[in-house]
Amino acid sequence: MTEHSGGLSDVIAGDTAICTVGKQGRGLSYRGYAIEDLAAGACFEEVAYLLLYGELPGAAQLDAYLQRLSRLRSLPEALKSQLEILPANSHPMDVLRSGCSLLGCIEPEHSFDRQHDIADRLLATLPGMLLYWYGFHKHGKRIDTAMETGGQAGGFLQLLHARPPSDLQQRALDVSLILYAEHEFNASTFAARVTASTLADFYSCITSAIGTLRGPLHGGANEATMAFINDLADPDTAEAAVLAALASHRKVMGFGHRVYRESDPRNTLIKTWSRRLADDTGDSRPFAVSERIEQVMWREKKLFANLDFYSASVYHFLEIPVSLYTPVFVCARMAGWAAHVMEQRQHNRLIRPTSNYIGPDKRPFVPLEQRT
Ligand code: COA
Repeated sequence: MTEHSGGLSDVIAGDTAICTVGKQGRGLSYRGYAIEDLAAGACFEEVAYLLLYGELPGAAQLDAYLQRLSRLRSLPEALKSQLEILPANSHPMDVLRSGCSLLGCIEPEHSFDRQHDIADRLLATLPGMLLYWYGFHKHGKRIDTAMETGGQAGGFLQLLHARPPSDLQQRALDVSLILYAEHEFNASTFAARVTASTLADFYSCITSAIGTLRGPLHGGANEATMAFINDLADPDTAEAAVLAALASHRKVMGFGHRVYRESDPRNTLIKTWSRRLADDTGDSRPFAVSERIEQVMWREKKLFANLDFYSASVYHFLEIPVSLYTPVFVCARMAGWAAHVMEQRQHNRLIRPTSNYIGPDKRPFVPLEQRT
């Protein structure tokens, strides 16, 4: 049998100039900038601009970009009416996957020359698609998705709660979007690149990516984490639940990583925001429970929390419904996916690996009437 690494682990599947993940001396960086610096000093739109256009914007460029995204936010009537007829009990990830695909029917990509326009349009409209569907089905309201203020993070919270967020809440979500924006050849980005490598249209690439992010081993881990934490009354109960999960060989969501070996650099950053929000809200249980889970997982298995783990409590403190956690990840990762689709197109070769055959030996065909 030919040797291969399961799940393509440790396989270098292509070149990229967008991001490094866990590289010696570089850590996690977007186009050369350390994630710690971006999380401390940039806003999500600056990071999206960096990923999509290759350089950080100047002040005037950022202002123009914010205005451009703001102008692009309104949803076509045909899309709104389709969102209204999707079932009220759809998973919001299915809504985004369908919404992206529908926009591709309404505003198709006729030429790759317009790819930046489509990337910006999707970045601007995905939050609105999600919240339009959510507002219509949960509250019977047709919301205006314009999001005049507060950029992607503040606008999202304003639309969701119909009240302006505090500066702390807005910045917490903004940082979370920065941390979620890009992560090299993760499963959903790779799916987008595979689709792009066939020279398919932009919407098909992003639809593939959204479907891939949905699973609990990838983006769905933040929802699974909160479902776990919600059931735990205090740190001692949490410790017992983790030990029981490990004893029965169940995975604890929000832990471990394919590339990182000892820690996820995004965890320290998002954990700080979870602690700040816990202090601000006075709701100490989710953070205390999370910290105990983190300690026990390290003590028992040397497994560390990944970005999804404390993102769950951050979103809880921001009063985001659990079913919208992974869709929020989509709204951020859209920037990274789009950058990778464009990079793939720039140096394209069809992605088509080969397999190690483990099926039956060659055998004679038996006509239907002779089969027993
Ligand atoms: N909880 C408990 N055990 C875990 C674990 C977790 N979250 N993650 C990995 N392990 C264990 C596995 O059970 C396995 O143990 P074994 O060798 O005794 O069978 C070992 O660690 C290797 O795990 P494996 O799933 O093969 O590693 P991978 O590199 O294929 O998977 C992940 C990486 C991220 C898919 C995996 O760590 C996981 O499923 N994590 C939970 C989901 C999650 O948080 N996803 C978001 C990633 S950012």
